[in-house]
Amino acid sequence: MGLFTEEIAIDLGTANTLIIHNDKVVVNSPSIVAMDRTNNKIIAIGEEASMMQGKTHENIRTIRPLKDGVIADFNASEQMINKLIKSIPSLKKRFFTPSLRMVICIPSGITEVEMRAVKESAERVNGKEVYLIHEPMAAAIGIGIDIMQPKGNMIVDIGGGTTEIAVIALSGIVCDKSVKIAGDVFSNDIINYMRSKHNLYVGDRTAEKIKILVGAVIEDLEDAPEEMSVQGRDLLTGKPKQAIISHVEIAKALDKSVIRIEDAIMEALSQTPPELAADIYNTGIYLAGGGALLRGLDKRLSRRTDLPVYISEDPLQAVVRGTGIALKNIDRFKTVLIK
Ligand SMILES: Nc1ncnc2c1ncn2[C@@H]1O[C@H](COP(=O)(O)OP(=O)(O)OP(=O)(O)O)[C@@H](O)[C@H]1O
Ligand SMILES: [Mg+2]
Repeated sequence: MGLFTEEIAIDLGTANTLIIHNDKVVVNSPSIVAMDRTNNKIIAIGEEASMMQGKTHENIRTIRPLKDGVIADFNASEQMINKLIKSIPSLKKRFFTPSLRMVICIPSGITEVEMRAVKESAERVNGKEVYLIHEPMAAAIGIGIDIMQPKGNMIVDIGGGTTEIAVIALSGIVCDKSVKIAGDVFSNDIINYMRSKHNLYVGDRTAEKIKILVGAVIEDLEDAPEEMSVQGRDLLTGKPKQAIISHVEIAKALDKSVIRIEDAIMEALSQTPPELAADIYNTGIYLAGGGALLRGLDKRLSRRTDLPVYISEDPLQAVVRGTGIALKNIDRFKTVLIK
């Protein structure tokens, strides 16, 4: 490898973008940019742009360049990646941008055209050697599963835009299912619930906070979180107001969406070849992605499938960890990397 080449692994997610460089997560940022409408220049990215969400005036708009796990706004996403790469501390010191060897993970349901677009985007930010890896594969590697074994493993990655369900064996995805029910839909469920049950109008950031503080998918939690107070606008009077919310209400609000994820998992299981199904009976299901942190999800899925369900360690970073491992062992993982 040349003196001026650096290696980075990117998980370009609908909700969060993470980058690994030299074995460390050096970027962990919301996938959001804020743009000046008058000249289309980016004025903030990541956390800073996220704070502006819902609070912008007519000259500023916030954009989430990814939607449903794929790039919806190429210009904004490329500028975001560019700025995030330039923000990596050890690269910032350089006089000129080094050429990059990159592994980027992509949703398994992505089309050829979308794949090429991601690659071209990466090449324009100085990617000289660009590999792509399917998200569930990266998640499996990040969880620590030996994906090359002739043994089936089921991964369920619940991100911001999509839930990806995959059975992996012999370095390949044997069957997979992608549904557009994930964190963003959960947040909308919460917004709608607050509207209809409490006459309270809350924004995206507040819904996100509710999801993290009292988010749950079963009512009978062993370790129930404390109730939280939520502020927003009263739909009837128009005045600011507050309501007290518990996890029981959120479990109700999310129920329909969780059922759709359960159904998709059941469908994937029913399409799994019998020898692999036998493996999964023993190995169970692994959960990754931010959605895996919803309280009681492992229990609920276990009840529905009669299988053991495990939450991976640090589920928000499983995919980028796996992408990083593939980057470090490019030869070993050649078969799962897409050139
Ligand atoms: N503690 C938590 N409880 C519930 N949901 C959470 C929690 N923490 C984060 N999330 C949600 O997880 C989602 C982000 O997960 P993740 O970073 O895995 O998604 P992503 O990889 O960006 O999206 P995708 O894989 O769909 O492109 C967000 O919707 C966020 O609200
Ligand atoms: Mg993801």
